[in-house]
This record gives sequence, C-alpha cells and structure tokens, in this order.
Amino acid sequence: MNVTIMGLGYIGLPTAALIASKGINVHGVDINKQVVDTINQGKIHIVEPDLEGLVHYAVQKKFLKASVKVQASDVFLVAVPTPFKAQHIPDLSYVENATRMVIPKLKPGNLFIIESTSPVGTTEKMAKLIFKERPELKDKIWVAYCPERVLPGHVIYELQQNDRVIGGIDDASTEAAINFYTKFVNGDLHRTNSRTAEMCKLVENAYRDVNIAFANELSMICDKADINVNELIDLASKHPRVKILNPGPGVGGHCIAVDPWFIVSEFPEDAKIIKQARIINKYKQEWVYKKVKTVAKKFQKDKGRTPTIACMGLSYKPDIDDMRESPALDIFTALAKEKFKLLAVEPNIRKNSTVATTETLKAILSADILVFLVAHKEFRLLSIPSDKIVLDFCGVTNR
Ligand SMILES: NC(=O)c1ccc[n+]([C@@H]2O[C@H](COP(=O)([O-])OP(=O)(O)OC[C@H]3O[C@@H](n4cnc5c(N)ncnc54)[C@H](O)[C@@H]3O)[C@@H](O)[C@H]2O)c1
Repeated sequence: MNVTIMGLGYIGLPTAALIASKGINVHGVDINKQVVDTINQGKIHIVEPDLEGLVHYAVQKKFLKASVKVQASDVFLVAVPTPFKAQHIPDLSYVENATRMVIPKLKPGNLFIIESTSPVGTTEKMAKLIFKERPELKDKIWVAYCPERVLPGHVIYELQQNDRVIGGIDDASTEAAINFYTKFVNGDLHRTNSRTAEMCKLVENAYRDVNIAFANELSMICDKADINVNELIDLASKHPRVKILNPGPGVGGHCIAVDPWFIVSEFPEDAKIIKQARIINKYKQEWVYKKVKTVAKKFQKDKGRTPTIACMGLSYKPDIDDMRESPALDIFTALAKEKFKLLAVEPNIRKNSTVATTETLKAILSADILVFLVAHKEFRLLSIPSDKIVLDFCGVTNR
C-alpha cells in the first residue's frame, strides 16, 4: 500500500511518520523545498516531542520519502493549512491547490481524505472538483473527511490513541476510510457523513471558545464587583452540575481562535453565541492591556518615574513555545508602543526567536509591575517580593 500525505507540517509530518513506522510506504509532499530536504535527511523542521526519532527511523528504513511532486498512490491525505481571509472568511485555496495537484494522479480504487479543518461542505466541494476534471472516476474512488484533534506536544501519542470521527461523501467512502485508519489508530473510529464530520471539528473548538468566553466575561464583571474571580469559580464549581473554566488574557492558537469563524461566516444569522464568544475573548485582551496601562500610569503619577513592567509569558497557552494568535504576545506588543520599560519572560522560547526575553528571576527583581499572562509551570511556585505590584490574569500566583 502507498500513502501520499499532502502538507508536512504539525499534522501532516507526524501522520506521515506514524503511518511509515507501521511499514507502509509513505510519500510526503510539501510545496516548501526546505521542508522536503530536511525530512529526507531524517530531520524535522517543527518542535514536537518524539517526532524526530520516528522520522529518522522511517526515512532510514525507506518507508518515508518526501518530495515537492505528487506520485500515483493508493491513498491521498490532505493536511494543508486552512486560515481565514479578511472578514474571517475561510481560505480554502490551500486545500483546493492540494486537491488540484492530486487530481492528475488519481486512479480507480483510490481513497482521497481531507484532514485539514474545513467549513461544512468542503469535502463535497472537492469531490465535485475531482469529478469535474476526471468524470470517469465517478463512483470509482472514495472521498472522506477525518478531522484531527491532537494536542501539540502530545501528537504522537494522541494520533494513535484518540477516537476519530470519519465521514465519507457516501457509505462506501466512509467504510474505505475506516479501513485505512484501522491500520494506525487504536482509538475508536466513529462513522458519519462528511458534513457532520466537518461540523464536529468546528463545534469542538467553538465549544471550548464559548466556555472560555463565559469565564472571561465573569472575570471582567468580578473586577468591577470587587470579587476574586478565581475564588468565585472554585466555589461555584462545587455545585454538582457546574464546571466553569479558568479565565485568561484572551484565547489564542491556530484552532480555537480561528475555527469558530468557519461556523459564523457560513451561518451569520444563527451563530450568535459562537460569534459573541469570539468577540468577548478578543475584547478580553484589550481589557487586559488597558488595565495594565492604567496601573502603570498611576505608578508613574504616584512615584514620579516610569515603571518597569515584566510580561510573564508570551505563548498562547502554558508550557509550549507556540505564539500563533497569542493574546499575551499582542498585549506585550501593545504595551511596547506605550514606551513603558518592558521586559518579556518566556521560558519556552526558541533560541532563534525575534522576541528577546529575560530570565524569570532577573525580571522579577528589576520590575515594578509583574503582569502574569500565561500560567507556565515555572511561574507557579515563585516567591514574589511584597513591594511588587502583581497583575495576575491567568491565576498562576497565590496572591
Ligand atoms: N497543528 C495542530 O495542532 C492542528 C490540530 C488540529 C487540526 N489542525 C488543522 O490541520 C491542518 C494543517 O495544520 P498544520 O498545523 O499541520 O499546518 P502547518 O502550517 O504546520 O503545515 C502545513 C504544510 O502544508 C504545506 N502546504 C501548503 N500547501 C500545500 C500544497 N498545495 N501541497 C503540499 N503541501 C502544501 C505547507 O508548506 C506546510 O508545510 C489545518 O487545517 C489545521 O487547522 C491543526
């Protein structure tokens, strides 16, 4: 069996390496030649635990080979980006380009799978495109959608153990895709149609966004009401049927902060709560920035000097280096424009990052105001001198 993976990024590369490690021939395709060359040397271009060893093994055993060109194959799996354009409209150009690259190589009996997070109807749209270009393949190939729900940092484990939702454009396609995933997934495989599978992925992330928005809204209300929101959430969650998430400085990353818009842009009249959650979570980061600015201005007035502010954490969530759509980074950038003396502390940052950071202890001793933005493990047990002003927006300190 030959499998082709289109797109060798955070999702495509681990998937390719995992399938290849099972002794299946995998042809990885990426439009970025540098990515292809790195992989063919048995190396990786992204940060993900356990991935380099797996890629090295698969390349050495000749089960994994990367290329910029598509070859004939039994299975084609698309894992290319799906960002949004202006006005939060999903940008399907990557999925469409990858599909167009595959079309000339398709033959009867092939299975075509999309894993990229996609608006409802994308799989049917790509199937239509395939059959328009190659009408002789109608009812001769299988087309399915299977969303990815891995947690960065745990991808190799979750790729194998998570349950998967698999939806074909018809029952035969669903069965063909189920048969394929059985080869490398230990989790349960749930059958549905492609539209439901597409919506399932979007709904999972919208659910998280809405629940975080509730906590973030509470945090702003409690601030006005002079109530400690973390204590309140702890107490309310003692109710047997209440479980409130933790507030933070907003919502970031390339999934939760993006995918809900795929529902809103398609169903603008009905997706009211989902849209409002996006607005609240985006507003929360502006609110945090304004809060810090007010405290800093007051310090300046009271003490007659510019305060030094340490922004504790820049990534979009604890204990990772990923800064895509990060509210913490946006807050830091907005404060930097205010000409305060600013320090950034990010223990997970890569050496070649463009953001210069200070060590935690040095920052704490030299700063007047400590702004906790991400609950990194390094911040949890800090002892903070009592003369420091602490603004904790992620509930990481004991104050
Ligand atoms: N990263 C995650 O944690 C995660 C989780 C769940 C779902 N997803 C979804 O999976 C999809 C892929 O995300 P990612 O994080 O792996 O993206 P990524 O940016 O890390 O990788 C995508 C790769 O595709 C390549 N590419 C672009 N167009 C191509 C084409 N026509 N042919 C071949 N390669 C092409 C790019 O060069 C890049 O290397 C997205 O839809 C994303 O929303 C990601």
